[in-house]
This record gives sequence, C-alpha cells and structure tokens, in this order.
Amino acid sequence: MSLPAYQIFEEKIAGLKKAGRYRDLKTITGPVGTTVFMDGMEMILLCSNNYLGLATHPRIKEAEASALKKYGTGACASRLISGNMEIHEALEEKTATFKGCQSAIIFATGYMANVGVITALAGKGDLILSDELNHASIIDGCRLSCATISIYAHRDVDAINSILSQHDPPDPHNRRLIITEGIFSMDGDIAPLPDILEAAKIHDAWVIVDDAHATGVLGENGRGTAEYFHLKDDQLIQVGTFSKSLASLGGYVAGPEPVIEWLKNNSRSFIYSTALPPSICAGSIAAIEILESNHLIRRHLWKNIKRFRQGLINLGFDTMGSQAQIIPILTGDTNLTMEFAEALFEKGIYAPGIRPPTVPEGKSRIRVSLMASHTYEQIDRVLYVFEKVGRQLGII
Ligand SMILES: Cc1ncc(COP(=O)(O)O)c(C=O)c1O
Repeated sequence: MSLPAYQIFEEKIAGLKKAGRYRDLKTITGPVGTTVFMDGMEMILLCSNNYLGLATHPRIKEAEASALKKYGTGACASRLISGNMEIHEALEEKTATFKGCQSAIIFATGYMANVGVITALAGKGDLILSDELNHASIIDGCRLSCATISIYAHRDVDAINSILSQHDPPDPHNRRLIITEGIFSMDGDIAPLPDILEAAKIHDAWVIVDDAHATGVLGENGRGTAEYFHLKDDQLIQVGTFSKSLASLGGYVAGPEPVIEWLKNNSRSFIYSTALPPSICAGSIAAIEILESNHLIRRHLWKNIKRFRQGLINLGFDTMGSQAQIIPILTGDTNLTMEFAEALFEKGIYAPGIRPPTVPEGKSRIRVSLMASHTYEQIDRVLYVFEKVGRQLGII
C-alpha cells in the first residue's frame, strides 16, 4: 500500500523539530499594547513593530471606523480597474509630502512594495547590489526581477564601490540599483546611506532604501533614514510600510514623479492585486498626522531605547551593535536561544528567539523591539529577568 502523499511533510516537520527550527503560532487575545494576553497570562510584549504604541490610539481607531461607515469594507478591485478611491490618492499624497518626495504609490503590503518596485525597475541585463542582511521581501524582489544580483557584505560601502567598478553596464540603458534597509530588521543597525548614495552617484546607480523600521523612528520628524542623514536626492527611492510604527497596513514607494508613474504602469504587485480597504488608508493617514503633530512619542521611544540597551550592555549582553529600537541579544546556539526565549515566556515576557534560516547559523538571538509606550517600570523588570535567565543559562 502506498503511503499518503502528505507523509513527506510529516517527516520534514519532524526534521525541523529535531533541528530546533520548528515554528508555531502564538495566539494573542485582546489588543496589542505593551502587554498582551497569551495562554490566559498577561505578558510584557517585546517583539511588536508597534514602535510608537499607535495600534490602540483613539484617533486612528476613530478615523478607521468613520471611513468604514462612509466607504464600506473593501475597494473590491485593483486600482487600475474600479478600486481607485479618493482615499487611496489622499494617502499617496500624504505619504509623498511626509517623505519629502514628488510622488508616492501605495501597495497592499510592504512585502508587495519591495517586490513591486524592484521588479519594475530592474530586469535582465541590469545589476542589483543587495546588502547581505536585507529582508526576505527584498530578496524575493531581486530573485523575481531576473537581474544580476550581487550581495555585498553588511553595510560595506567599499564592497559596493568595488562591485560597481568591476561591472560596467553592457548597455548605457542598463540600470544599477543598490538596495538597503534603513534600520536593519534583525540587527537594529543603521545603513550608511550618505556613503551609499555617494557611491551610487559616482557609478551612476540608483539607491532604494527600505524604511520599514525607520519610518516613525529616525529623523527629527520621524520621516526615516533620509531625514536622519539630511539627504534629499532624485537617485534615492524610499520604500516602507504602514504596518509597523504607523500601526496600519500597506506598503509605499516614494520618489520622483516619473518613477512612480512607471511603477503604476509596470509594477505587477500593484496592477494585479486589490486596492487596500479604505478604512485602512484612513488609519494610515491619521497615523501620519499624529506623527507630524506629536514629537513626544518618538522622543519617549528613544529614551526607552537608551535605557534598555545600556542596561543590557552593563549586564554583559552582546547587543550586536544595535543603534535603534530593534535590539538583538546574541545567544549564538539555536537550542540555547529557544531555551532562553522559553524561560522569558514563563516569567511573563514575550521576546521570541530568532534562528536560522532567518539569521545566519551561529547568530541566533533574542530579538527585542521596544515601544514608546513601554514604561520604565516594565523595562527595568525585563532587565531584571534577562539578568536572572542570562546567568542561569551561562550567557553572561
Ligand atoms: C525590512 C522590511 N521590509 C518589508 C517588510 C514587509 O512589510 P509588511 O509587513 O508591511 O509586508 C518587513 C516586514 O517584516 C520588513 O521588516
């Protein structure tokens, strides 16, 4: 008798479990605040991208609720068919102004924004330089583009210069794109964007910066990496998401008008996918308005970052050069990392272990992300537990 076809997956899953790489879903009940309820227990949440704590903000909830009443639940078509509503255009205008760019285009998710922009701007014969730690959505966009891909060492501008000087474009029309995250999603360090842009100018390349984690966090007004470094340049295209600091959903690309127009005509993840629900767009607009008018929230986030990171360093943890709200705590071994995460969980702290294939072998870690709304009391409690567990497991 032949075995059922799915047995191969049972075996593969058993393999994942044995290697400590099995992933399961944790269920949260109730809203996403600095604490959440999981398995009936109140846990301090240390892994949300709700960096500014806006996910429960009354003004955003109100904006979404009234847009829902006004426009209904969905756009029910792609933008180029009958799904283009005034609120989509309003969000694009808001995003372009917020990012200091001529124009912007929105996508259903940040993942789709990366895939959409990369595949529309690069193709066969073009060259893409991608940081070795770039997010999966960038990697997938690169793969789908069919361009030549060159992965450079993390944040290494000498490597970028060297690759570009060795690759003269075969045709003057061939493009070269350098793609980097602004704040890196697993390491929390910041891309050297001014130097990357300078290399791009020397070698006639474009730069795409993915500000998924930098929007709302970096820069005087939270506009992201370009604002943080005081950069404004037509060769710089800014990608990001409304799903993290802005506590909503959707992705965007902001840049020069002709580039955005090109994307509207060529970006497959824009053209062949349903437009965002109008209520979601209203939430994103309200979140940007809050960001523009309330700078105290972001300042508090930075106070939390400094307190927590310094606390960890004082205890002897390796925070891997993190510069921002994402703080990895290096544990190295995959099983040790999962033991650490479980011990934290038992003590009421939810900060999951990150392991291969998300990070390289030997670089497993606990990845913490802080929120502006965390209290000093919560942060100090977390440091106390980290010290206890870290000593028990011989990490410090
Ligand atoms: C760097 C980076 N880019 C893009 C994305 C995708 O964004 P979204 O969750 O909106 O699809 C993520 C999400 O984790 C990310 O970390």
